Amino acid sequence: MRHKLCHINDISDPGSREFSLQLANCALDFFVVHKDGQFFAYKNSCPHTGASLNWQENQFLDMDNAFIQCSVHNALFEVDSGYCIAGPCSGSSMEELTLIIENNELYLKLSDVAS
Ligand code: FES
Repeated sequence: MRHKLCHINDISDPGSREFSLQLANCALDFFVVHKDGQFFAYKNSCPHTGASLNWQENQFLDMDNAFIQCSVHNALFEVDSGYCIAGPCSGSSMEELTLIIENNELYLKLSDVAS
């Protein structure tokens, strides 16, 4: 199963966008990063405290668009792996979700999502 998110052009490169899905028994808050023609999705939960990473709507990248940045304590994560390279949760990773691109539309693969 999959859930349609948006057209690939709806997220600038570089850029990011947040989503929220209501699943059977929980809400899933996550975000998608578009960088260098590739897309990556992670749960919007910092491995440090579980807080949402962004404080501004759809803003997950640092000022240089080089890393994903947690706005709470400024942890930096690699865009392509979700691995934290600096900050209080250095060495840990965000939970990655699987995306599917078909006919220029972006989908979230639901079978990988823990409910
Ligand atoms: S909550 Fe993200 S770095 Fe502390």
